[in-house]
Amino acid sequence: MRRFFYSIYRFFNSPRIRYCLLVEGARRFLAYDTREVMMAKIMEWARFRNLEGDYMEFGVFRGDSFIKAFHFAKFAELFSMKFYAFDSFSGYPPLEGIDKECGYFKESDYSCDLETFRTNLARGNVNLNDVVITSSVFGELDRVARHKIGSKVASVVWIDCDIYKATLEALTFLVDYF
Ligand SMILES: C[S@@+](CC[C@H](N)C(=O)[O-])C[C@H]1O[C@@H](n2cnc3c(N)ncnc32)[C@H](O)[C@@H]1O
Repeated sequence: MRRFFYSIYRFFNSPRIRYCLLVEGARRFLAYDTREVMMAKIMEWARFRNLEGDYMEFGVFRGDSFIKAFHFAKFAELFSMKFYAFDSFSGYPPLEGIDKECGYFKESDYSCDLETFRTNLARGNVNLNDVVITSSVFGELDRVARHKIGSKVASVVWIDCDIYKATLEALTFLVDYF
C-alpha cells in the first residue's frame, strides 16, 4: 500500500507533471505573483513591528501595485494607513544623462492619465478617502506635495519609476519622512 501511494506521489512530483504547461498555468493563475507576495510580506512586517505610518508610492502608472498595497495593508490590519500616490500621470519626463544614454526608455512611456488611475482604484475596491494623489514630476514635489503630507511619516515606500533621475528625486523628497 505504501509503495502504491509513493508511486502516485512520485508520478505527480516528476518534472514531467510538475512543470507541465497546465500545472504551471494553474499555479500562476491561482497563486499570488511575485509583487503580491512581496507586498503581503512588507505589510505583514509593518504590522509585526508596529510601524505606524503611511504608504507612499512613486510611479503608480495604472495603479496595479497601489491597489495591491491597499488590500494587503487591510489584510495586515493597518487600518490607519493612508496611501499617497505620486506620478506625473503623463509617463516618463524628457530623458537626460544616463537615462537617455542607455537607450532603453522613451519619453511619455507608461503614460496613464489621472482620471483612469482614479477609476482603476475605484474598480479595484480601494477606498478613495484613504488616498492622496499628487500629479507632478518628482522634481517638483518639494513645492507641490509637502503641504499635503505635513508631519506624517512613511512606514512603507514603493519606488517604481524606472528612471535614475526620478528615483533620486523621490529618495531626496522622502528623506524627511522616514
Ligand atoms: C513602471 S511605471 C510604474 C508601474 C506601477 N508601479 C504599476 O504598479 O504598474 C513607471 C511610472 O513612473 C512614472 N514616472 C517616471 N518618472 C517620473 C518623474 N520624474 N516624475 C513623475 N512620475 C514619473 C511614470 O509616469 C510611470 O507611471
